[in-house]
Amino acid sequence: MADTRIRSRFDLSGKVAVVTGSSKGIGEAMARGLAEFGASVVVSSRNQESIDEVAQQYRADGLDATAIACHVGDAADRQRLIEQTISTYGRLDILINNAATNPYFGPVEGLTTAAYQKTLDINLTAALELSNLALPHLRASGAGCVIHISSVEGLHASPHFAAYNISKAGLIMLGKSQAAEWATDNVRVNVICPGLVKTKLSRALWEDEATENHMKKLIPLNRMATPDEVAGVAVWLAGPAAGYVTGSVVTVDGGMLG
Ligand SMILES: NC(=O)c1ccc[n+]([C@@H]2O[C@H](COP(=O)([O-])OP(=O)(O)OC[C@H]3O[C@@H](n4cnc5c(N)ncnc54)[C@H](OP(=O)(O)O)[C@@H]3O)[C@@H](O)[C@H]2O)c1
Repeated sequence: MADTRIRSRFDLSGKVAVVTGSSKGIGEAMARGLAEFGASVVVSSRNQESIDEVAQQYRADGLDATAIACHVGDAADRQRLIEQTISTYGRLDILINNAATNPYFGPVEGLTTAAYQKTLDINLTAALELSNLALPHLRASGAGCVIHISSVEGLHASPHFAAYNISKAGLIMLGKSQAAEWATDNVRVNVICPGLVKTKLSRALWEDEATENHMKKLIPLNRMATPDEVAGVAVWLAGPAAGYVTGSVVTVDGGMLG
């Protein structure tokens, strides 16, 4: 019989995962990946109808999924997301903070306080608050895990994305700080920094061929990523295969940052 010592370390059976912003794009791919490796997943976004559809599709494919709506900027929604996860499954092992927004594209001197604050509320503060709500359950899990979805924009600055860049840089230090404090409870915290991934969020960068070709020239692999290529990294980070990985920042950028 084949030795499956290493393969079994990717098994997420019995674990429960919450993925914010998982009705589409990278979040949807990560939720599916976790479920395919055995986890029960809570699919979440602002739109109940779209998450119901995703969860329904997963169940039709033999996966375990529940849809719980949550606008991550809303404190009552955040609380309900964690409470309903616990009332449904009785535990929480994996939290992925993935939902994000970018309401302003333009020069930093034109960035209003309102747009700046909204970006930080959704992209950074919500991740802090959700992590804190999840923490007692992650501790009880014995092998809890938080993954923050940052961006290469958190590591280098593209022009005209200041608020987004700041929020994504903050997410990296939030993850590192949590990792340093929560390791004693075996709660691991890691950050994924995708480069250019073909999703609705990045549509302006690929919907016309000339812009996409220009973007591709910046990427050594000469193409944008698919959401599945981020999902594989999340599956690895979520389980025992990455049991000694915490406080790490993993870039998934086709070599962009070198
Ligand atoms: N695509 C890229 O090139 C790229 C690169 C680097 C980093 N990222 C990061 O990857 C993550 C996912 O991006 P994506 O490209 O997959 O985006 P996407 O395809 O636009 O999907 C965004 C998801 O988040 C949900 N969402 C948006 N605002 C929300 C809110 N306030 N509360 C709860 N859910 C919300 C959306 O559903 P509803 O509209 O139904 O709420 C959707 O499920 C983000 O953190 C993004 O910054 C993306």
